Order: sequence, then structure tokens, then C-alpha cells
Amino acid sequence: MALADRNTKLVSAKFGNEDAKTLAGYEKLGGYQMLRKALAMRPEDIANEVKASNLRGRGGAGFATGVKWGFVPKDAKEVHLVCNADESEPGTCKDRELIYWDPHLLVEGMVISAFALKAKHNYIYIRGEMMREYAVIAKAVEEAYARGYLGKNILGSGFECHLTVHRGAGAYICGEETALLNSLEGLRGQPRLKPPFPAIKGLFGNPTIVNNVETLMNVPFIVDKGGAWFAALGPGRSGGTRMLCVSGHVNKPGVYELPIGITFRELIDEVCGGVWKGRKAKAVIPGGTSMPPLTYDELDVPIEFDALMTDERIKPVEIAPGVPFDMGGGRQLRSMAGSGGVVVMDDHTDIPKAVWRIMKFYAHESCGQCTPCREGTGWMTKVAKRVADAQGKPGDLELLASIAHGIAGNTICALGDAAAWPMLGFLTKFRPDFEAALAASGAAA
Ligand SMILES: Cc1cc2nc3c(=O)[nH]c(=O)nc-3n(C[C@H](O)[C@H](O)[C@H](O)COP(=O)(O)O)c2cc1C
Ligand code: SF4
Repeated sequence: MALADRNTKLVSAKFGNEDAKTLAGYEKLGGYQMLRKALAMRPEDIANEVKASNLRGRGGAGFATGVKWGFVPKDAKEVHLVCNADESEPGTCKDRELIYWDPHLLVEGMVISAFALKAKHNYIYIRGEMMREYAVIAKAVEEAYARGYLGKNILGSGFECHLTVHRGAGAYICGEETALLNSLEGLRGQPRLKPPFPAIKGLFGNPTIVNNVETLMNVPFIVDKGGAWFAALGPGRSGGTRMLCVSGHVNKPGVYELPIGITFRELIDEVCGGVWKGRKAKAVIPGGTSMPPLTYDELDVPIEFDALMTDERIKPVEIAPGVPFDMGGGRQLRSMAGSGGVVVMDDHTDIPKAVWRIMKFYAHESCGQCTPCREGTGWMTKVAKRVADAQGKPGDLELLASIAHGIAGNTICALGDAAAWPMLGFLTKFRPDFEAALAASGAAA
């Protein structure tokens, strides 16, 4: 058992292999053997292996998968498993590739997970724009039914498992798990108040586990080699490998499966061929635009979940110069690993303009249910635009920080935080850029 190295490929091992997308090609490579193995195990033993694996959700929050599965009440009459394939966080494009290249791995991971959770009617909620991937996964599901990997009495085990692929309609908010469940139920895609959390009361009122595509695709490997093996691949409490989608100003952008201990600097310089045009990285978004950015000096931190939250080399986000943002109980916000979408901005980047563009996205995608998010994202966009356009007014930076601070932690779902955190993070770390934009407006900061 050892840490993963850069050649360790699990979920992306079949990238580029067209044949592996067919059921016959997948089976030739040992496909569905882990389902056979799992069906001979006790469901609770599979869940225990997942717990021991330190598999953490790849959808954004990094929550321990085995712990989440453990929240489902033992006496539940009906349980659902829902795969979140909505993938709309800016900078994130790994699930699309995973589904396209290895659809049967997702089906196998889902049937094994459903068996562990005793879930009969299960769903894949796929982003509406992903037509190519929808066709691929729909075909894989059809093939799996025809071969007896889905349906009644799977492989003679007595286990019944159904999988419905449901297309979303292109709303970022439907990636939030409770909005997703509402959308699946045919309701407007708006988040629900929590608690109750979906594991207790989710789809159609039944306990429901929502997991990301990449999370579920790791489960067959855990059944194959064991939770301890998977846990040992990653550092600390983060088992396995990580899919990273690198975009922006690098020579070799792309979707890479990498060890979780790799640092941002290694990722940019060694994997992605360095910053383009011989320039230097200025700001790096570590895991989708919802996350506070890193500066050039913070790039020696690993991409690991806990490191990004606690490593003291990352400056805490502030609500005003020298005043850290308190996330509650004195907890400071540094950054987070998020969805694996790494966006690199070089030293020619107009930071206020980039921040305005990010804010515009969240204002457009806010579902409008809660006032701080509905109003605040709109105001942040408006003020950020005038600052970026050299039309800013005195006090605009304080205004932006106070709107963001008013949103963070005060909304039904985390879309509010997703807009507030990068705003506060950029203001904290790139204040001179905003001050220069204000000076160009003729307004002093
Ligand atoms: C606004 C918003 C959008 C989200 N979009 C996605 C998404 O597209 N895909 C995803 O897997 N998780 C997304 N999430 C996280 C989900 O709510 C949920 O935590 C995740 O699907 C759980 O899976 P995991 O435990 O395997 O990470 C989003 C969350 C928020 C607040
Ligand atoms: S935070 Fe925003 S997106 Fe989330 S429920 Fe409230 S208004 Fe809707």
C-alpha cells in the first residue's frame, strides 16, 4: 500500500479507449467483476470498506462518503441513490469526460453503491447541455439492463436495481443536491431548507444519497482492493486520486487524474507545462470559481481537502483589511478544494474584470428564493462592473465587502457563499488591483 504517483490512474484509466465504452469492451477489461464480488458481500461490509477508504465527495464539499451513507436510517423502507452529473461549476469539466470515456464504470459504481445502500430506484441527473454524454450513458444503461446488470434479480442475487437517466435543463442551481431532487420530482429547481438532509428525507420523501459522478466511479476500486488500499493512496484523511480540470493561462490545459498530495505549483509547472508566454501565475482558483483564490506565493500547498482549509501558508479571507472573516466559532476561511476546477490567471490578468465576470455568473444563476443572495449577487455584479470599468465610486471596495459579508452564511443554500467567498477572497488578496481600478476612476479607495 502506497501513496498514488502520477502514473496511478483509476477513474481515467480508460480515457482514449473507444472500445471500453461498449459493454463488450468494458467486460473484456474486467468490467462488472467488482459487481459480482460486491453481490457476494454483505451490504454493510461494502459500506464499511467505503468508510475505511477515506473517499471524500468529489462534487465540491469533500464530505466523507462512507459517513454520509451511514446517515441513512437502518429501518428505511425505500432508499434512493442519485448521481449528480449536473457539473456546472465554472472551471469544472471532469464528470463530462468520465461519463464519455467510461460510462459502464459509473453504472457499475452505482449498482454496487445501490446494493450497499439497499436502494432500488436510482437516478443519474445529467446536465442538459451534455448531449454527447447523455447519449453515451443512456446506451450504457440500456446495455446493462440487457445483460442483467440492472433490473430484477441482478446476476441471480435477488437484488433489484433500476437506473433512470434524467436530463436537467441547464440551471447551475440544479447541481445543489436538494434543488436537484426538486427538479427530479418535477418541481421548480430550488434548494430546500435543511435539515432534514436528503439522507434522512430526500427524493419523494425517502432517504436519498446524492453523490458526484467521480465519487461513485471510485467505489468499484474500493471493492476490488479494499478500503485500506484506497485510503493509503492519498495523504491524511483524503483517499484515492483526484480529477483536476486545469484551464486558463497554462501551456497544457486539460483534465488530469493526479495524486491528491500534488501541489498547485507542481501541477502548473510540471503537469501543465508552466504558465503560457513565459509569464508568472498571479491568481489561481483552486476548485471552481466558488472558492477563494490563491496567490503565487500560496501555490506550494497541496490540492488536498484539509490542507486548503487549514494550511497557514494560505492567508485567511478578510471582511476588511486586517479583519478575518469568521465562519462561526472563530473558524477562519482560507480556501477549499471544491470541484477540482483549477483556473490559472497570469500576471497580465485584469483581476477586477475577472471578478465582475464571476459575479455575473452567480447573479444569473441565483434562484431568487432568499433575499441576501438574490439582491446581493445583483448588487455585487453592478458595483464590481463599475469598478472594473473605471467608473467606481469612493467606498466601493467596502461596499462590495459588506454585501459579500451580508450574504455569506445567511442563505438557504451554498450558492450565496459561492458568490461571497471569491469576492472577499479577491478583495483580500488583490486589493492593490482594485485600488488601482478605483484610482483610474478618479475615486480613492
Ligand atoms: C450551487 C451549487 C451547485 C452545485 N453543483 C454541483 C454539481 O454540478 N455537481 C456535483 O456533484 N455537486 C454539486 N454541488 C454539491 C452538491 O450539493 C452535493 O454536495 C454533491 O453532489 C454531493 O456529492 P459528493 O458527496 O459525492 O461530493 C453543488 C452545490 C451547490 C451549492
Ligand atoms: S442562496 Fe441563492 S441560489 Fe441558494 S436558495 Fe438562496 S437564492 Fe436560491
